[in-house]
Amino acid sequence: QHKCQRKRWFKRRLTFGRVRPLQLYSCTNLQETSQELQSGGDRSYPVPREYFDRVTNHHINNIEQYMLLYNHSILQPDEFWSDKAKQVLSWKQLWDDQICSFNFDVEKGPIFCEWFKGGKLNACYNCIDRHVEAGHGDQVAYYAEGNEESADIRGYTYRELLDYIERLASVLKARGVHKGDVVAIYMPNIPELVIAMLACARIGAIHSVVFGGFSAESLANRLLDAKSRVVITCDGYKRGEKIVPLKTVADAAAELARETLGYNLVEHKIIYQRLNSKEHTATMDGHVDEWWHEALSKAEKHCAIEWMDAEDPLFVLYTSGSTGRPKGIVHTTGGYLLYAALTHRYAFNYHPGDVYFCTADCGWITGHSYVVYGPLVNRATQVIFEGVPTYPSADRLWKISAKYKVKQLYTAPTLIRSLMRFGEKYVKNSQRDSLTLLATVGEPINPEAWKWFSREVGENLCPIVDTWWQTETGGHMILPPPVQGFYQKPGSASIPFFGIVPVVVNEKGEELFGECEGYLCIKKPWPGMFRTVLGDHSRMESTYFKPFRGYYMSGDGCRRDKDGYYWLTGRVDDVINVSGHRIGTAEVESALIAHGSVAEAAVVPAPHDIKGQGIYAYVTLREGEEPTEELRKALKHAVREHIGAICTPDVIHWAPALPKTRSGKIMRRILRKIAELGTNVTPNDLGDTSTLSDPQVVDMLVSLYGK
Ligand code: WTA
Repeated sequence: QHKCQRKRWFKRRLTFGRVRPLQLYSCTNLQETSQELQSGGDRSYPVPREYFDRVTNHHINNIEQYMLLYNHSILQPDEFWSDKAKQVLSWKQLWDDQICSFNFDVEKGPIFCEWFKGGKLNACYNCIDRHVEAGHGDQVAYYAEGNEESADIRGYTYRELLDYIERLASVLKARGVHKGDVVAIYMPNIPELVIAMLACARIGAIHSVVFGGFSAESLANRLLDAKSRVVITCDGYKRGEKIVPLKTVADAAAELARETLGYNLVEHKIIYQRLNSKEHTATMDGHVDEWWHEALSKAEKHCAIEWMDAEDPLFVLYTSGSTGRPKGIVHTTGGYLLYAALTHRYAFNYHPGDVYFCTADCGWITGHSYVVYGPLVNRATQVIFEGVPTYPSADRLWKISAKYKVKQLYTAPTLIRSLMRFGEKYVKNSQRDSLTLLATVGEPINPEAWKWFSREVGENLCPIVDTWWQTETGGHMILPPPVQGFYQKPGSASIPFFGIVPVVVNEKGEELFGECEGYLCIKKPWPGMFRTVLGDHSRMESTYFKPFRGYYMSGDGCRRDKDGYYWLTGRVDDVINVSGHRIGTAEVESALIAHGSVAEAAVVPAPHDIKGQGIYAYVTLREGEEPTEELRKALKHAVREHIGAICTPDVIHWAPALPKTRSGKIMRRILRKIAELGTNVTPNDLGDTSTLSDPQVVDMLVSLYGK
């Protein structure tokens, strides 16, 4: 029955008939508001005039042109996306007659979405080969800035990348990796990580990059979920002053996977040597492990390209949700690649020749879309940074920007806040006159950080592009376009990108119009959308499409103002956004409970000056256990070991009991409030506690606050 329904939907052409064109504000109206609200409030700022004096080549001339393009993209999506797909990508074969087919309504059949089906292309070819073929082989693709500061400039040209990619791809093939196999990559943020990703893409293998900060257990879970038989990693790397022994962790993960399955899952490890012989302690197992440099030196120099269907998977990337284990978000080749490239081009007004710097690690979606695929399709020259922004000192980013003459800088609000703390002197010490555009991602940027970024870093000369999007969306969804005549509002991600139809719905899933607040959903498919959760399509349907029939539910709350600007208000589910990283409360809770002394745990977000949100854990101990400082440390350590350092709780609040409803549900609303007591919340703000089975628990918890 499913098949037949699917067929019916497949036949339906993508129509946006019932979508309204973007009704933006009138610019004059905004100018007035900006004057009215000068004393605080939602003040708006035009994109600085100086930006247009300093940068003269623009993909989009002004806001009127942006609106025309936007309206074209949603009223005639077939034409819009077909033109863009031909302009931006090189296809081995064009798609069948259909640009897109989809179903977003759970009642009508399985959820699906397909773009450019039948089209053939290869992501590696689009990122690398075609640029070399077109005579740009000597152009630098990446400047590699390591953990240690050095005066040297180390560049990787497109031709060099191609050489490494082809060799590594040959090695993978020789080790039995086939189209559709999932290869795990567990590396620091160095060009070799990109090489590993593209080597997979070249032969049609699906890469699964696991952030280098994750623990052995987290890596093991991902290896098991995707059945990865091959792992590409390195001996270790330095992060600030610390050595991270990556190979040891990868070995432990492989061992955990073996214990779980009862046989060896990981058959091959390829190890890039990043540390010198004194630093690294990697022990090599001759049956499983081989050095990257040795394998590549012996490898076949050329490796044929595997032409993929546009809908063949390109990669899987795990992300935390409100329940259960992290989900393997699957992106496919054609739509994702186009969407990453187009957003990169327009959001940052990128032109080949500009030096662009995104501070994200490739272990996250921002690295995938805006360090690897988007920029490479656009033949970018970029800086890839392995280290941390405060090592050896807090001016590292500005020094890098000056050293490479960075034009566009893409970073995160948490990072801006952490650097603000050091004061302006670190910024002022550096030459930043190459910077023309600044951008952020990961969480709402608080107006204070926005203004500091604009004033201190950008000297009020640069647009600030605050991009809202998610692992699932593949690329930017809502952002302030850096075009003439556009008014920016600090703290608002602003307006939708081409092809995106955001809607705000209420609890009942009814669409709201005009000024409103509710849940942010997306109404129509877009090319960069994820296609499924690896191995569990029903989880994709129930998480994203069941809550509100007919819409993709983002999990974020949002307000739309009278000018049509979107203001993201944070997650509406049990996901904590720590420094722009999604942490599932359930994962942290189960790591705490795994510790023998814990009977029960509940984890909630709490406001944090730098990280945006911190992790606040209520812990009920087992009978006979004493709440000591040592135990506190041990519990934090346990979480770090189970998941990774980014999930370490900031606060452990001892809880003799947890507030529960009569049916036994933990009242997280109250726990969140108690966690905010340090701010301007008082015990009187805790709200209705009458539905609790034992209202006194709340008083007890309040009295233990800060203890
Ligand atoms: C949050 C990162 C407000 C949001 C690309 C979203 C933001 C989650 C912004 C996705 C922004 C990201 N303004 N909130 N500019 N950017 N978020 O999957 O809650 O790691 O749902 O993707 O981060 O995080 P993810």
